[in-house]
Amino acid sequence: MLLKDKVIVIIGGAGLLGREFVSAVVNNGGVAIIADLKEVSFQEFDINHKQVKFVKTDFTRLEQIENLINIVSKEYGRIDCLVNSAYPRNQNYGRDFLEVTFEDFCENACLHLGGYFLSCQCFIKFFINQGYGNIVNIASIYGVVAPRFDLYTGTTMTMPIEYAVIKSGIIHMTKYLAKYLKGKNIRVNCISPGGILDKQPEKFLKRYRDYCLNKGMLSKSDINGTLVFLLSDMSEFINGQNIIVDDGFTL
Ligand SMILES: NC(=O)c1ccc[n+]([C@@H]2O[C@H](COP(=O)([O-])OP(=O)(O)OC[C@H]3O[C@@H](n4cnc5c(N)ncnc54)[C@H](O)[C@@H]3O)[C@@H](O)[C@H]2O)c1
Repeated sequence: MLLKDKVIVIIGGAGLLGREFVSAVVNNGGVAIIADLKEVSFQEFDINHKQVKFVKTDFTRLEQIENLINIVSKEYGRIDCLVNSAYPRNQNYGRDFLEVTFEDFCENACLHLGGYFLSCQCFIKFFINQGYGNIVNIASIYGVVAPRFDLYTGTTMTMPIEYAVIKSGIIHMTKYLAKYLKGKNIRVNCISPGGILDKQPEKFLKRYRDYCLNKGMLSKSDINGTLVFLLSDMSEFINGQNIIVDDGFTL
């Protein structure tokens, strides 16, 4: 029960990783607020439904984040933590570098990096008034190392330029914010997960495994332990860090 009674907002809580984070928070005694564009029904979650709430939120819209903060803080009297795990992208996202237009680059950077910026800024204003707070941003190994393009040969997948730029930006923004908040009792950290199993082609999985130390691509619940640790008081003096969870892919 590392998160007993902590109120934790999970932006992107309806997603592949977000759902795991919601379950991990509730199973560790916390209250999970799912803030997502996509509506989810609690019946889909095999957890105590009294400890979960859904607030439909577009985290690229200032008034919607302010509304989220108002609703949660009024109902629970406080907000302990924010987890940023949304993954917005426009309809042209995922193209090869030479095909990406300036407009698409700007739109994707604005939605994803911009959304993380905006949600951090709004919650930090609230946390400063409250006197404490804790933020965990979900970044990626591709914000840490250059792409391994050979992995994608013969598949329809690639590592988009926007993703690399956005995720490295999120890692650096995390450090910036941790330092900016000196003396305010607000921590900001990030997690950089490796690739998560999600029906990728076998030849890709095998090549990916060769870069790793034991497992290869991770299961969607493999990030939970690190998240719970960062949200808990056990990590009280960890601040401004990027914790890589990737079975050694980036070594
Ligand atoms: N899946 C992976 O392999 C992997 C690996 C490393 C890092 N990550 C990162 O983890 C995070 C979660 O990824 P995922 O795989 O769960 O993605 P996902 O697409 O399954 O889920 C993302 C969620 O974000 C929500 N969302 C999108 N735009 C939003 C907006 N404007 N406002 C609010 N919610 C919005 C979606 O509705 C969705 O529920 C992302 O930041 C992603 O970059 C994922």
